[in-house]
Amino acid sequence: VLFQLRNPSSPPCIRSWIPWFGAAFQFGKAPLEFIEQARSKHGPVFTIFALGKRFTFVTEEEGAEAFFKSKDLNFEQAVQQAVENAVSVPAESFYQNHSNLYSLIKGKMSPSNLHVFTGTLCEELREHMAHLGVEGTGDLNELVRRVMYPAVVNTLFGKGICPTGRSEIKEFEDHFQKYDEDFEYASQMPECFLRNWSKSKKWLLKLFEKVVSDAERTNPSETTSKTLLQHLLDNLQGKHLAPNYGLLMLWASQANAVPIAFWTLVFILSYPSIYKKIMEDLASVFGKAGKDKIEVSEEDLKKLLFIKWCTLEAIRLRSPGAITKKVVNPIKIQNFTVPAGDMLMLSPYWLHRNPKYFPDPEMFKP
Ligand code: HEM
Repeated sequence: VLFQLRNPSSPPCIRSWIPWFGAAFQFGKAPLEFIEQARSKHGPVFTIFALGKRFTFVTEEEGAEAFFKSKDLNFEQAVQQAVENAVSVPAESFYQNHSNLYSLIKGKMSPSNLHVFTGTLCEELREHMAHLGVEGTGDLNELVRRVMYPAVVNTLFGKGICPTGRSEIKEFEDHFQKYDEDFEYASQMPECFLRNWSKSKKWLLKLFEKVVSDAERTNPSETTSKTLLQHLLDNLQGKHLAPNYGLLMLWASQANAVPIAFWTLVFILSYPSIYKKIMEDLASVFGKAGKDKIEVSEEDLKKLLFIKWCTLEAIRLRSPGAITKKVVNPIKIQNFTVPAGDMLMLSPYWLHRNPKYFPDPEMFKP
């Protein structure tokens, strides 16, 4: 009873002398460093026992194919509790809706459908850049947020549906920022431990009751005129949870896109030669900068490949520490069998630093 024998085919398991908490303390303090140290000590596949659960990490490419393709892994079961904590969508509704809504959003946001959004997005970005005035703001992160948030929500949710006007935005921004800041923790624990986060969540859910009722009221009959939010509402089963799904979609649309836009700009501005090349590319497509409005078409974007590569390189360097799926049937990865019940964690952060593919892994080389 005192010694748990390790199944020789299971990956090496890291626990600590504190039962149940396992390695949670060390892992929680500095997850990326913890993964790296564990990897150099135990190899590319290892299990961390923490908070009563087993998390098996795959840090090299061998596991990536299995992670994305295997039927023995399940995404929904891995994230259901997090969704329940974050937006109070109960398990039953989540399992009933997830795959439909996932296909819907994936279809609407696919590259072949993006032309539907480019006109509005371009107009919106221009409008909100103009609001910054000639002095802008001294803070790049704030600049990106102030422009991206209203442009993205007006494009995906419909103009005037979410608060984007100057008078109403302050209170919204405060709550949304608080909600976003602690989202990672809050999705992993009961909300009674995070009082301020919980207050902001309640405020946002209340706001989304109005957002959803406005979107319903203005929902057009023909498909091509509907916003992404209106498509979501049409396809949702259990309409009373519409505000919760709406808030989840708002968060998903901002949580990665805003930081990536920020980091792409940071990298470009940090390398004078890259900045120079980008400005030359822009001038070759749009002419010299001036006061005239620039119309950006998909054709123009296709000519600006270097900007696309900069964005992809920023995504490579600033991708998440881990994404997760639940093992539903034992699965073989390298020479190990990962048992059912484990959370399988793939680390894009470390995969994107594999020296076999990126000889200078920390360098920004678009
Ligand atoms: C540069 C921009 C973006 C990046 C880097 C990004 C990245 C990601 C990542 C890493 C995940 C988690 C995948 C996983 O855990 O397996 C995710 C999920 C998701 N993202 Fe994005 N995202 C971006 C923009 C957007 C936008 C604009 C939307 C608009 C609605 C969006 C909607 C979603 C949704 C709905 C999910 C959940 C998918 C599911 O339930 O299966 N994302 N995204």
